[in-house]
Amino acid sequence: MQELLKRMHEWMSAYMKSFYTDDEEVQNGILIKEKHTGYVTANCIALAKNLNLSQHDVELAEIIGLFHDVGRFYQYKIYKTFNDAQSEDHAELALKVIDQLEFFNELDRNDYDVMRFAIQNHNKRTVAPTDDKRKILFAKLIRDADKLDIYRVLEPYFAQENADKMPNFITGRDPNISPDFIKNFVEGEQADYRKIRTNGDRKIVRLMWIYDINFKWTMEKILERGYIEKIVENLPIDENIAKGVQLLRKHVEKILNA
Ligand SMILES: [Fe+2]
Repeated sequence: MQELLKRMHEWMSAYMKSFYTDDEEVQNGILIKEKHTGYVTANCIALAKNLNLSQHDVELAEIIGLFHDVGRFYQYKIYKTFNDAQSEDHAELALKVIDQLEFFNELDRNDYDVMRFAIQNHNKRTVAPTDDKRKILFAKLIRDADKLDIYRVLEPYFAQENADKMPNFITGRDPNISPDFIKNFVEGEQADYRKIRTNGDRKIVRLMWIYDINFKWTMEKILERGYIEKIVENLPIDENIAKGVQLLRKHVEKILNA
């Protein structure tokens, strides 16, 4: 698969560069996703190795990382947004691009199905139910690898003074958190991100991702890099939020000690 992987990297590189433009706003978006693609691919490889997967499966993880956001480039060029609700689901867009690439015919059919499933489910609220353990494994793997890097991308914007510097800024500067989101946080359940209204809501949604981290490796990286603390220190001071943070820290400990 090494030779195929090399061609895939070459194709992806050229594909991303084909979206370069003189429009500064679009160019910035494209560069953010090019860099993200590189980091997520590296995260997939590192996580797959940490899980002691076979050489073959480490390579499959690499392919999934490389192509998971291939829909983002077309999405940004056409809609000038990374917001799926305001454009199209970028995972479905990725599958449309993938289905037109002939080199995927060289991939083992089972691997191809696993890859499509993982990419399709990388950005959904939950992974679609299936009895196929390989599909679940690779979906969990890309979800962790992706979230870890999104924390890197968003980190500078968690500080209130940078709230409106975020690319595609849509939520307003309000640091307060909507009652629904506080309720979700205290109960340790995922919030409905379609209901995000404030900058505080956005931070809570990112913090709640911690409950959706699947592997100890990812949690260790998140902790090492201080992403949780960075969000927590920028939340409003409130008794219920403090309760939610306490619950979250217990969950982190549980994953680390698993
Ligand atoms: Fe991604």
